[in-house]
Amino acid sequence: MKATTTPSTSAPVAHNALPPPSASSTARSSRIAPHSHIKGLGLTAEGLAAPDSAGFIGQTNAREACGVVVDLIKSRKFSGRALLLVGAPGTGKTALALAVSHELGVKVPFCPMVGSEVYSTEVKKTEVLAEAFRRAIGLRIKETKEVYEGEVTELTPTESENPLSGYGKTVSHVIVGLKTVKGTKQLRLDPTIYEAILKEKIVVGDVIYVEANTGAVKRVGRSDAYASSYDLESETYVPLPKGDVHKRKELVQDVTLGDLDAANARPQGGQDIMSVMGSLMKSGRTEVTDKLRREVNKVVKGYVDQGVAEVVPGVVFIDEVHMLDIECFTYLNALLESPMAPTVILATNRGNALVRGTADIVSPHGIPVDLLDRCLIVKTDGYNREQIGKVVQLRANIEGLKLGPGVLEQIAEEGERGSMRYALQLLAPASILSGLAGRSQIEVEDIGETNELFLNAKTSAGNIDPEGGFDGGRMW
Ligand SMILES: Nc1ncnc2c1ncn2[C@@H]1O[C@H](COP(=O)(O)OP(=O)(O)OP(=O)(O)O)[C@@H](O)[C@H]1O
Ligand SMILES: [Mg+2]
Repeated sequence: MKATTTPSTSAPVAHNALPPPSASSTARSSRIAPHSHIKGLGLTAEGLAAPDSAGFIGQTNAREACGVVVDLIKSRKFSGRALLLVGAPGTGKTALALAVSHELGVKVPFCPMVGSEVYSTEVKKTEVLAEAFRRAIGLRIKETKEVYEGEVTELTPTESENPLSGYGKTVSHVIVGLKTVKGTKQLRLDPTIYEAILKEKIVVGDVIYVEANTGAVKRVGRSDAYASSYDLESETYVPLPKGDVHKRKELVQDVTLGDLDAANARPQGGQDIMSVMGSLMKSGRTEVTDKLRREVNKVVKGYVDQGVAEVVPGVVFIDEVHMLDIECFTYLNALLESPMAPTVILATNRGNALVRGTADIVSPHGIPVDLLDRCLIVKTDGYNREQIGKVVQLRANIEGLKLGPGVLEQIAEEGERGSMRYALQLLAPASILSGLAGRSQIEVEDIGETNELFLNAKTSAGNIDPEGGFDGGRMW
């Protein structure tokens, strides 16, 4: 991993998201999968949106507006504000939010949540928001450590009779051979390190390093020399390390404040990434309290002042923001103004709506005006048939589905009648049907059959109430 050139001695300032960090909070990544074709906003150097770029089709106004916001964030002029994306369902609000986070850097922490997540029976509403904000602030820790690094050439546990119990044998030590370009070395390591080796699934041919002081073992990747054995693998190959096996190495660890809070609340968990924060480890804590957060902040600030760590604010994305209530909104205002706030992106598909938690305050998007005043609002537009077709084709490519003649036109037409999301959702069931029929690609018949088996929203509602009846809150 390369070190960045940004000075790291400054105090934690919000929105200094210039260097791309990497986040370790991947637990929520599944919600991003439908947007895997989105690589960024696809803007030119002048900030203009090409009609089809970086996986984004059309939506040029919104993309250009988001480009300006990215510039504001990068020049640290966005503190205390939020970006609000409004538009009909399926018009790419979530996709835009993700693109903004990509533009800020490949691995800027991105913490998506849905407004309704705050209604948990166990945790305070505001606590859920506070946690999301902490998960969106990255910390890049640089340390120079004494390590043994190299390609594993030998991995032999040595067993001996256990002198304490009469039963069987235990591992007394493990012999690990490490090779670099310059030489090889054989290490005799403690059995606890052997457990770590098993946990990291390290085998001969992997490049690893062992920290001399703590004995923490880290797998860097598979050695280049083994790269040709398989064609398709989700493996990262790394070159044989240069220099001696025993050396000083700059290690970079990326964590979020949320990770640190959680690790310190659960003393046993996640100890490998937290080695640097070991001073905070105290036993007996079970939940993340404000006091704990303040302690973590203090330690983090210390590290930042020493130039050991660098704060990297990421992005909190709150979808369906009209689901928040007045309590959450006031708390959000306060969070926005805190000195270490990440970038906040909100999205909603509601027009005028009642602010939750109030009896009669109707406000645009169900958001109180004092928060609205802090927002830059960007609207997403609907799509035409051609644009829907292009997005469907992108998704089909990503999902590895082949489309027969005429299929794309047919799905795009369905999308124009229903919605973009409906068109995209047709792909999966249609591919199952084509598989059942023994075809290798989706044909027009499969789409026809999908439409027979399943209803779209309009035909479905029409089935029950021919008048259409109540307007279920649609505002656009
Ligand atoms: N302009 C676009 N280019 C490429 N893909 C798009 C575009 N707009 C939307 N998509 C894709 O269409 C799907 C639906 O869009 P998305 O989920 O972003 O809509 P949304 O506005 O967040 O809807 P909702 O209000 O229901 O949350 C996603 O898979 C998204 O990646
Ligand atoms: Mg969405």
